[in-house]
Amino acid sequence: MLSSTLAGLMSLAVTASAFTCTRQYLQEQVDKYVFMQETGQHGEFDTLSYKMVYLENNKTASILSDLPAWGLKVDAKKSILDTTLCKTFTELIITDPSHPYVIHTQMTLDEEGSVALIDSLVTDKGDWAFNATGYQYWNSLEEWAPIPESKRLSRTQLKAAADAYADRCNDTTVIVPFGTPCARLEGGAYTGRGNLTANTCNIGGLPSNVPMTNRRYVIDEVMGTVDIFLGFTGLDRTRPKEGTPDSHLFRVEDGHIRSGPNISPVSDRIVLCNERHDVE
Ligand SMILES: *[C@@H]1O[C@H](CO)[C@@H](O)[C@H](O)[C@H]1NC(C)=O
Ligand SMILES: *[C@@H]1O[C@H](CO)[C@@H](O)[C@H](O)[C@H]1NC(C)=O
Ligand SMILES: *[C@@H]1O[C@H](CO)[C@@H](O)[C@H](O)[C@H]1NC(C)=O
Ligand SMILES: *[C@@H]1O[C@H](CO)[C@@H](O)[C@H](O)[C@H]1NC(C)=O
Repeated sequence: MLSSTLAGLMSLAVTASAFTCTRQYLQEQVDKYVFMQETGQHGEFDTLSYKMVYLENNKTASILSDLPAWGLKVDAKKSILDTTLCKTFTELIITDPSHPYVIHTQMTLDEEGSVALIDSLVTDKGDWAFNATGYQYWNSLEEWAPIPESKRLSRTQLKAAADAYADRCNDTTVIVPFGTPCARLEGGAYTGRGNLTANTCNIGGLPSNVPMTNRRYVIDEVMGTVDIFLGFTGLDRTRPKEGTPDSHLFRVEDGHIRSGPNISPVSDRIVLCNERHDVE
């Protein structure tokens, strides 16, 4: 009895030390997360850490009583996988007229492959530019296929492009490597219309002297995509010194790899969570 327990413990230890963070494993965690959100059941999520922390809009919440407990009709979902940080990012669009949401979630796995943190930004009616139907419409027109292997950028390049955008919101001298075509989806508002040359993100409207703090990244070289969770200082005017939870998802494509730093975020989607002040 004792020896079989020991053998069991040893095989567990071997399994734990052998954990490798692969795309397939991360995709399985994403699938479990989406299943939980769709069904309101977390029982199948057998890789949750005992110490798992669940955050909604940067506040501690519970998968037993907050959004994952309800069962949502998901119209569209998109995920990226970061095997270096062992993190995932998932976007869920729910247009259900009884209660629409756009949800961005970053999950962080521990060294044993258990999900230790589920960090969700749940945007809702009353949040900045919130329009789940509009978001779903523009989302449905975009195709985010994997980047061909020969054209993939490094993590450093992808992160630099996304950071340039976040830095530019504070320091107007920073140059953001916007390409053409490029479109920005902010809540339900889309900048891309008309012909391709007219589709540019270089249209102004970025704030100045707004520090983007507490940045948390998910970077996927295969998808050429970076998501940053950050604090948008001063968005909520009632709390000018506090960061409002905010997610920026960038798709970076390099059409001109030989000319070096010609990096083109063709899509920059922003989910701003204004901490649910209702403006009904
Ligand atoms: C939301 O977006 C849809 C699709 O673009 C649009 O028809 C609708 O008028 C928008 N609603 C609001 C409240 O802006
Ligand atoms: C594309 O749109 C821009 C801006 O509206 C315009 O100046 C340009 O002539 C258009 N190009 C084509 C090929 O239609
Ligand atoms: C924002 O800009 C100010 C002034 O240039 C600088 O002191 C600060 O470090 C910047 N903060 C961030 C988060 O970029
Ligand atoms: C979220 O919480 C952390 C600490 O728990 C804090 O440092 C951060 O500024 C908060 N706000 C945002 C928007 O990330």
